[in-house]
Amino acid sequence: MQKLTITQPDDWHLHVRDGALLKTVLPHTVRQFTRAIIMPNLKPPVRSVADAAAYRDRIIAAIPAGKRFEPLMTLYLTDNTDPKEIIAAKASQFVKAVKYYPAGATTNADFGVTDIRKCDRVFEAMQQVDMPLLLHGEVTDQEVDVFDREKVFIEKHLIPLKLRFPNLRMVLEHITTSDAVKFVLAANNVAATITPQHLLFNRNILFKGGIRPHYYCLPILKGEEHRQAVLQAATSGNPKFFLGTDSAPHSRNSKENSCGCAGCYSALHAMELYAEAFESVDALDKLEAFASFHGPDFYKLSRNTEQITMIKTTWRIPDEAPFTESGLVPLRAGEEMTWKMT
Ligand code: NCD
Ligand code: ZN
Repeated sequence: MQKLTITQPDDWHLHVRDGALLKTVLPHTVRQFTRAIIMPNLKPPVRSVADAAAYRDRIIAAIPAGKRFEPLMTLYLTDNTDPKEIIAAKASQFVKAVKYYPAGATTNADFGVTDIRKCDRVFEAMQQVDMPLLLHGEVTDQEVDVFDREKVFIEKHLIPLKLRFPNLRMVLEHITTSDAVKFVLAANNVAATITPQHLLFNRNILFKGGIRPHYYCLPILKGEEHRQAVLQAATSGNPKFFLGTDSAPHSRNSKENSCGCAGCYSALHAMELYAEAFESVDALDKLEAFASFHGPDFYKLSRNTEQITMIKTTWRIPDEAPFTESGLVPLRAGEEMTWKMT
């Protein structure tokens, strides 16, 4: 295939940050996607409908002139979230989901939940008004091997949570393991997002010829059998699986550091990365539904009506995108891509 035309895609898991970084990264996403679920892990996090409204205004102000883009907002769940905030969120119409981070699990998760059972009253309200719960599905227990944290979260917390709230709609975000695929397939009212890095790479890339911080994200890349299970799920055509880049920009300084931040930057070339992953298993015919249909269907939103086109051509991913602080290194920087969005 030399040319691929599909319905305009959306990104169902995205970090755009704030301030100067927001202004740098948002145009990249706007080139690729029509809508995005915006993660609330700012410093301090987006905890109330008022926070989300103000953040949404700042995002809209950063959309390049003449472009169309809709930020879909989320609230950051804490031990102290009031069920009333869920009712207000539903009424706002622009808050589309609530995000659960285990305290300390990842970047800016200090305000995260310390014990998921503390939130049962909030989950009750979410179930009642049909507000989806987005999960960063990893335990933070330092005793648990870093490669097992998703699997243990599913066993210890997610299966019991699903039993307590069978009708609560959930998205297990950025899945990385065959265990997650199995859980999502078996559970009712559960979907999952999948990133480009978890489709394209296994954990070997983290140590290829030396330590490679730009491949470090959370949940961390897993072994090849897990990558294959996730790739199989993404390309299966099953509507439970849809696109969420988890593009998570950090400046070069904060990645190339003795204690580097977690997050891969893919907003620049996300669709091209997904196209390559789908093509690798001869499943380009499944890309449109994964990127453009399953997400809006899950969120009960209309599908986009316009189209994008990608062509088969070789181009080099830039070494960095300019950012005032120290540059932003895209995933697979300096390497060649075989698809390009026109
Ligand atoms: C994300 C970030 O930097 O905000 N990092 C990441 O590795 N994915 C946080 C997250 O989604 O875990
Ligand atoms: Zn994320």
